Amino acid sequence: MKINNIAIFASGAGSNARKIISHFENSEDIDISLIITNNPHAGVIQVAEETNTPSLLIDKEKLKDSSYLIHTLRDKNIDWIILAGFLWKIPEFLVDHFPKHIINIHPALLPKFGGKGMYGAHVHQAVIAAGEKESGITIHYIDKDYDRGEIILQKRCFINRDDTAESLAEKIHTLEHKWFPRTIEKVIKEAK
Ligand code: GRF
Repeated sequence: MKINNIAIFASGAGSNARKIISHFENSEDIDISLIITNNPHAGVIQVAEETNTPSLLIDKEKLKDSSYLIHTLRDKNIDWIILAGFLWKIPEFLVDHFPKHIINIHPALLPKFGGKGMYGAHVHQAVIAAGEKESGITIHYIDKDYDRGEIILQKRCFINRDDTAESLAEKIHTLEHKWFPRTIEKVIKEAK
């Protein structure tokens, strides 16, 4: 049976990475083979250690070095790249090398509240400041336009009057943890 190997790119706490790893823990045909991060202090490094997942710390030069990155990913037979809070722009050579095989999660309802600077608490602050009645998550393919890739799934949550960026972030994380792993599985199984 063909094993689908996944590389997770993350820059932060790694709560999504942790959920994805546990979701596929007993999978026979999907393996989380590598975690790549650009942040030496990222919590996701801890997640890699705790789950015995190989991890790699890269800097901007390495991210832009196509031969290095492609070789590293091919070395692990990576078929899919999952972006779980990776804060650097994916280079175009990687998008070309993994067409419709790079999946990102954005903590808002794209196409609104996407693009430069729209990450973490900034997104939730912007959504609340705009007086939105709901927010949510967007799981989408990465293409060269980044946050404008084809949408795979969106899930919504209501915003109450007393919601803060923190309380909205919690609602969004709950949606992410519930829907990202199973959506990745669905996409991979349907792509066979
Ligand atoms: C998530 O909110 C995700 O939507 C965004 O980055 C955050 C990653 O959080 N792209 P974590 O590191 O998985 O906890």
